[in-house]
Amino acid sequence: MRYHLTTFGCQMNDHDSERMKGLLEGQGWSEVAERDDADLILFNTCTIRGSADERFLGNLGDAKRVKRHRPDVLVAVGGCWAQSQKEGVFRDFPFVDIAFGPAEITRLGELVARERLDAVGAFSLDGAFSSTLPAVRERPHQAWVQISTGCNCVCAYCIVPSVRGRERSRPAWDVVDEVRRLADEGVREVTLLGQNVNSYGRDLPRDERRTFADLLREVAAVAGIIRVRYSSPHPKDMRDDLIAAMAQCPEVGAHLHLPAQSGSTSVLRAMRRTYSRERYLDLVARLRDAIPDLSLTTDLIVGFPGETEHDFAQTMSLVEACAYDGAYTFLYSPRPGTEAAERLPDDVPHDTKRERIGRLVDLVQATAAARAQRFVGTEREVLVEGPSRTDPTRLRGRLSQNITTNFTGAAAPGQLAQVLIDAATSTTLTGHEVEVAVPA
Ligand code: SAH
Ligand code: SF4
Ligand code: F3S
Repeated sequence: MRYHLTTFGCQMNDHDSERMKGLLEGQGWSEVAERDDADLILFNTCTIRGSADERFLGNLGDAKRVKRHRPDVLVAVGGCWAQSQKEGVFRDFPFVDIAFGPAEITRLGELVARERLDAVGAFSLDGAFSSTLPAVRERPHQAWVQISTGCNCVCAYCIVPSVRGRERSRPAWDVVDEVRRLADEGVREVTLLGQNVNSYGRDLPRDERRTFADLLREVAAVAGIIRVRYSSPHPKDMRDDLIAAMAQCPEVGAHLHLPAQSGSTSVLRAMRRTYSRERYLDLVARLRDAIPDLSLTTDLIVGFPGETEHDFAQTMSLVEACAYDGAYTFLYSPRPGTEAAERLPDDVPHDTKRERIGRLVDLVQATAAARAQRFVGTEREVLVEGPSRTDPTRLRGRLSQNITTNFTGAAAPGQLAQVLIDAATSTTLTGHEVEVAVPA
């Protein structure tokens, strides 16, 4: 009863994988480091871009190799790619025994425990929240908390709504209960997760309805929780009550990952993002007004159908205007079944996409490096996560602004260390501890 799990994709998948591990280990399975030693080879997949499919398929080929040598090993494929393929996976990859979508994670136990006869699939989009399962967490002081699943947006490029289904919110009491339990276990930082995390609550019954801002305040008030983050918000749902909650709750990190996707209003319209460049900029101005020293990061897509050099220049100037502390940049990738793939020609030549993303990455890096200098010479609270990855004699943690900091000091993981920042690169700060503030 040994399993091997490989996880691809976003934080939602990382969280779902913790639950898969919790479920399996509750049933007597134990994790092994090599596929060759496993009785169950499990994948939690992503299909957000063509490159995600390719990366996964390379790994699936390795599972096929193992199965050739040991035919009774079980191969199970869960998550977004599996959902996008449904039963087709058994035709195209006959060595796969089990396939299930991201809304069917709670059924994994039943799927692996049954008598092995035929391949079995589970693809409903309204299964139980994976948060109902026990979790095996790697980080003792940090936890993800799922507050909703699915997405009701219709972003023209995006496959997520078709594989994760309609948006469903967990009742606030259930979320807060989980956060209390986590705090009792020693968790100090929680990250609230949803595909469109800040549209939370609209689907709840009237007597249980909460806004995301209400929920954020309730979670921040849980004793023992000293940092709260959330991912990913949609600009259209960043309302004033949420900005106020961020500004007023010291536990809520001074960081926002606010996907812009493009700086051009006409591209944003074609993407069906429902905001213009001006509205996004106005939102950033209101955020910066309310939350001094906010760190802002974003997602940007390059080469969406119809993107002209002028549109791309608008994205470049958005990066400067917003002074991002970081950005994930993606080449547009047509996804089967999405509006953009079905209706719009993928007309930006690949070389042009590559050339544009090169310029964008350079600008993002330069902007982030310049922005990071504002920390040098200042004292900051760092929530300690553990030893530094590159130098185990030093500590690693993050600022409220979500910037990774390596430093010399004696604070314990889960504590806030007072750190004087000595130097900064575009992604990392270094410093030394001056005094430990033990959380109340
Ligand atoms: N639910 C989150 C994350 C969506 S996926 C959100 O809405 O913010 C993460 C990022 O992948 C998106 O923000 C977008 O920038 C990028 N992305 C999604 N589909 C894409 C596609 N077809 N091609 C290129 N990038 C894509
Ligand atoms: Fe995809 Fe848009 Fe929903 Fe994000 S908000 S998951 S980009 S459809
Ligand atoms: Fe990928 Fe699914 Fe997340 S497609 S990005 S794992 S929601």
